[in-house]
Order: sequence, then C-alpha cells, then structure tokens
Amino acid sequence: MSKKFDVIVIGGGPGGYIAAIRAAQLGKNVACIDEWKNSKGGPAPGGTCTNVGCIPSKALLQSSEHFEQASHHFADHGIEVKGLTIDAAKMVARKDAVVKQNNDGILYLFKKNKVSFFHGRASFVKALDGGYEIKVAGAAEETLTGQKIIVATGSNARALPGTPFDEVQVLSNEGALAVTQVPKKLGLIGSGVIGLEMGSVWRRLGSEVTILEGLPDFLGAVDQQIAKEAQKAFVKQGLKIELGVKVGDIKVNEHGVSVNWINAKGEANTLDVDKLIVSIGRVPNTIGLNADAVGLKLDERGAIVVDGDCRTNLPGVWAVGDVVRGPMLAHKAEEEGVAVAERIAGQHGHVNFNTIPWVIYTSPEIAWVGRTEQQLKADGVAFRAGTFPFLANGRARALGDTTGMVKMLADATTDEILGVHIVGPMASELIAECVMAMEFRASSEDIARICHAHPSLSESTKEAALAVDKRTLNF
Ligand code: FAD
Ligand code: NAI
Repeated sequence: MSKKFDVIVIGGGPGGYIAAIRAAQLGKNVACIDEWKNSKGGPAPGGTCTNVGCIPSKALLQSSEHFEQASHHFADHGIEVKGLTIDAAKMVARKDAVVKQNNDGILYLFKKNKVSFFHGRASFVKALDGGYEIKVAGAAEETLTGQKIIVATGSNARALPGTPFDEVQVLSNEGALAVTQVPKKLGLIGSGVIGLEMGSVWRRLGSEVTILEGLPDFLGAVDQQIAKEAQKAFVKQGLKIELGVKVGDIKVNEHGVSVNWINAKGEANTLDVDKLIVSIGRVPNTIGLNADAVGLKLDERGAIVVDGDCRTNLPGVWAVGDVVRGPMLAHKAEEEGVAVAERIAGQHGHVNFNTIPWVIYTSPEIAWVGRTEQQLKADGVAFRAGTFPFLANGRARALGDTTGMVKMLADATTDEILGVHIVGPMASELIAECVMAMEFRASSEDIARICHAHPSLSESTKEAALAVDKRTLNF
C-alpha cells in the first residue's frame, strides 16, 4: 500500500526542506525524502549547504580566522600569544559537530511542522491520474504517491575531464572540508567562490596556496573596482593567484599532485602540491531520479527546465534550487521553495531575482546586490556612483579592520539604488540593509537620510549614499 501525500518534496537541502515546511504550514500533508547519510549511515538532512557547503565552510573559515588573528593581529592589541599551534583534526571535529546540530535542527523542524521524513533515494515510477508514484530506496523500501512533486535534488562538484575526485589528493568541496592535517602546499583550480573561501582557510593555517584561474579577470562577475581591491588584499595575505591560465595534464601519485599549466604569457609551468582542490563550478544533480520514466525535461547541462515560477514541463511537478537555472545559492533555493509551496497552496509566491545578494566569506568579505558598474555601462544606464572607504569609518578603525569600501550605484535621473558592492569587514551583514533598500526601491537619498548607529560599520553605507550626491561628511 502506498502512502498518500498532497506534496512530496525530493531532496532535503535548503530548497527542499524549506519548501516542505512552508507547504506544511499552509495545511498540506507533506513528505520530504532525502538520501544524505551521516558517518554512521543515519539521516543528515540539509543537503550540500548543511553537510558539505555553506555551514561547514563557514565553521572552518571562523576557526582559521581566529588562528590568523592570534598569529598576526592580537599583538596590535597588546595581546601576546606564545607557542600558538593549530590542531586541524580538532577544528574539523568542531565543524562536524556544527553540521550535526544543523542536521538535528532540521529533523526537529520536520517533527514540529508534521512533515513526514523518509531517508533514502527517491525516483519517479510513473504518472498517475492526478499525481505521481515515487519509490524510496533506503533502509526500507517505500512507495509514496503525491498530487504535487517538488524536485530539489541540488548539484554536485564539477570534475576536470580525466581527473576524477579521489577525495584524498584531488578534492571536491567534500574532501576539502575534511582535511585533518594542514597541507604544506595546496593547489586550487578556479578562483571562484569556493577557491577563495577554501584557499583562505588553508592559507591562514600555514599552507602555501596557489590558485590557477582560467579567466583573465579576477572575479569577473563582481564589480571590478571591488574585485581589484579584494585581489590586492588576498595577494598581500599571501594567496598566489594566477589568472588567464590553461590547465594541462594532471598527474596524481602517492606523494601529491603535479599540475602542468600555461600562464597568460604562454609559458609552461608545473605546480607540485600535496593536495589539489578543484573548484570549477557545479553541475545540477538528477542522478537516480529516473526523470525519463515520466518525461521530465532536462536541458543540455542536465538542469531541470523550469519557467520563471519553477514549473517543469509536467503538470504538478515543480523544481527549485541548484537543480534549476539561476545562481547556486542556498537563499535563492529557499526563496524558490517558499514561493512554490505558496503557489501550490493557491497563493502568489514571488522571488525577486534582481535582489538576491551574493557573499564571499573571505577576509575581507565581499558582498553585493544588484548590477555592477560594468553591467550598467553595458546596459546603457546612466548612473551616479558613491564610494566610502572603511579607512574613514571609526568602528572599522577600532576593530583594526579598515580594508575595503562600500560602493553604491544609483540611477542618474531617479536616484533609485541599482546596485551596492562591498568589500570589507562584515560585508555579509551590511548587505542586508542594501537588499531591503532595493526591494523597497529606495533612492540613495533615502539611505543618506536614515539615522545609522554610531560607531558602526553601517555608517559606511550611509556615507556611500551621501557620496552619490558628492556630500560625504567623514571623507
Ligand atoms: P542541495 O543542498 O544540494 O540539496 C539537495 C539534497 O537532495 C541533498 O541532500 C541530496 O542528497 C538530496 N538528493 C538528491 N537526489 C536525491 C534523490 N533522488 N532522492 C533523495 N534525495 C536526493 N550558498 C550560499 O548561499 N551561501 C554559502 O555560504 C554557500 N557556501 C557554499 C560552500 C560550498 C563549499 C558549496 C559547495 C556550496 C555553497 N553554497 C553556498 C551553495 C549552496 O550549498 C547551494 O546553493 C544549496 O545547497 C542548494 O540547495 P538545494 O536545496 O538546491 O540543493
Ligand atoms: P564558481 O563558478 O564560483 O567559480 C569557478 C571558477 O573556476 C571560475 O572563476 C571559472 O572561471 C574557473 N574555471 C572553470 N573552469 C576552469 C578550468 N578548467 N581551469 C581554470 N579555471 C576554471 O564555482 P565554485 O567556486 O566551484 O563554486 C560553485 C558554486 O557554489 C558557486 O558558484 C556558488 O554558487 C556556490 N558557492 C557559494 C558560496 C557563497 O555563497 N559564499 C560559497 C561557495 C560556493
């Protein structure tokens, strides 16, 4: 006998578990199926984000930042540290404990919201009259039927052709987050978000880190004034970043990895490292879903094809998060999950793709929302720009963290804020005000007229808004 549900969610990452909770809040009888296993084989909902993505990477970034502070910056405060050491295995164990707290939190939320959780791999069996039959292959096999299906099966790391991940020497994000000894020499392919975050973790702990990036521009999608400022800071910290490279043969032996590469001038080089992290993007994951059984349409990248509202080609089947188009971000997946649950319940769910923030959790942090200066120029939009350096912010000086700036871009005619780009301390938190401002279609003058607490980093956002009108008060 199959168990019947109004909504079945396949995948328990931020897209899936949030969709399941929202659908349950709206009165639906909901099942969520997720196959992720913890080290003991038990359920570990939360997907890439919780297990091998956002949460563990931020835990390691925090630990390594403490080490960096104690190694290089405590002395400025008159704090002397002698005999400082790092126990990388303990750091990773702490990270694992943080992950488990999050796994357990999601299981608790399922109970609280009366979402039925199934641990195992879900696949489509067939379409029914008014729904779909879904098989769950796990510890026990189950057959479920659902009137509506939400697919949130996420993404996997992309490997370099011919160099599969062994997670010992050639690492995806999974292996990169589980290294328990500081590698003497670490190589990374790709200076995108993972390359910079993971490169920073191990550089802070003492690895000699080299990042090989294929594109000629550093962080090409980021406002280039901000990217250049960040690049300067990373190079000063000791990250070696080679741009415009062509990666050639990669040889793996028991001692490490040898990467042949050609630099931007066409010269041949070899990089010998103990471990190599390959962070060249991610591919949508539909492995095991048996999409063909029901004719679920995928594109050439393997992503599930959806319209602007996350509807697939099949009636009653929706898809959200990394497995569909758009940025691969946890909060984007969550917003889509909420919107789809609301649409299923007859409401008007909405995701504003123009105000999805990005954050890179390096030090300095990089965060932005809206269009860059380069995009506005390409779009032929007349704009005014205002920048304010953290060097002129009292709180940043007190923190001893004055790298970077806030840059605000506003429409030249209407003054509506079109983009805000930040490199500097706590950019991840500062960007929230800017997202809200853009969501409410605020002008730069609105921000300039709002009272910001003193001394706070957020005064830099206000000053950048004043700078749009060329009237900063503190610079
Ligand atoms: P996922 O989180 O990948 O979840 C999909 C789930 O579905 C998984 O649990 C998987 O096991 C399960 N599944 C797949 N197929 C099946 C099946 N057939 N049956 C049952 N279960 C199945 N984003 C941010 O916004 N901020 C960050 O700081 C950030 N840091 C990151 C750091 C790293 C190292 C990485 C790799 C990613 C990071 N991301 C970050 C991206 C973020 O993790 C993803 O965008 C997010 O997890 C996508 O959510 P999702 O629900 O679509 O998919
Ligand atoms: P990415 O897309 O951010 O960066 C990949 C980089 O690799 C690019 O700069 C690209 O030009 C380069 N590249 C691709 N092929 C290459 C090759 N053959 N040789 C050399 N360079 C090559 O992808 P990344 O870092 O793997 O992360 C995947 C996704 O995970 C991100 O796009 C993001 O969506 C998400 N993520 C988000 C985080 C956050 O929000 N803080 C943190 C980490 C990941």
